[in-house]
Amino acid sequence: MSRQVRIAVAQYAPHVGDVVGNRAAAVRWAQRAAAEGVDLLVLPELASSGYVFESDEEAARTAEDASTGEIVTALADVCAGSATHCVVGINERSGRVRHNSAVLIGPHGPLATYRKLHLFNDEQSWFEPGGELPAVDLPFGRVGMVICFDLWFPEAVRALALAGAEIIAVPTNWVASFRRQVYDAAGYCVGDIVAMASAAQNGVVMACADRIGVEREVRFLGCSVIVGGDGWPVAGPAGPDEEAFLVAEVDLDVVAATKRRTPRNHLIEDRRPDSYNAVVIPAPRPSSAVPTPTAP
Ligand code: ACM
Repeated sequence: MSRQVRIAVAQYAPHVGDVVGNRAAAVRWAQRAAAEGVDLLVLPELASSGYVFESDEEAARTAEDASTGEIVTALADVCAGSATHCVVGINERSGRVRHNSAVLIGPHGPLATYRKLHLFNDEQSWFEPGGELPAVDLPFGRVGMVICFDLWFPEAVRALALAGAEIIAVPTNWVASFRRQVYDAAGYCVGDIVAMASAAQNGVVMACADRIGVEREVRFLGCSVIVGGDGWPVAGPAGPDEEAFLVAEVDLDVVAATKRRTPRNHLIEDRRPDSYNAVVIPAPRPSSAVPTPTAP
């Protein structure tokens, strides 16, 4: 058996506040994906609006609806004439609140919206966190989504893997939050390494579309990557400053087989949830933290 899927990630620089220009750029990448027979394209986090807002007014002005907004509608028009599906990061307006969301769009329009669970730093000023992790069946396989900082919480990708997701689309805006080292000698940033660990732990494909450029003194890291189910990249990492369009052919039957690590081991079946109390029992809230014991 073979289930070949052509996956692409686009790395470029959206511009904060420029919804018209950002939409045009997203459409150009989607047109390229459709022309190159890509089954699943991933675009960066907040590709519709840019990332570093200076005010609530700017965040509000650049927000769009996840089903009828202009970037989703424009990308749906590109997908409509092809077999290409697209995941795009948007600043989502939903009633009186906003979410940092990823919308999965297919030839018949938007299919699912994922709202970032783990908001990073100032994102907490602009967005409300989501509460669900959809896994969506597409003609070629089951797809889940997480966004950037979600990767640092391994439960999110694990939950999607347990729900049967085979490809995790990761719109991202990786930033340098540790000053000691940003890239290693091979050109990986920590986001790549966390994505590689997620793939290796779960036997899933991780398709990470990062952005480049600088917004209001925040520099984004590039390094977009597509990781195979064995944990090793199948495309990328892209450079730290270059526009890039990474494409990889992946056989999802081979990916599924990576879950069986040895004849006697399976990444999902060998789990020991009976012993994972520390993960399944909520952590105490800071106010009820146990006092540090004093020396007798
Ligand atoms: C991030 O979550 N965009 C760093």
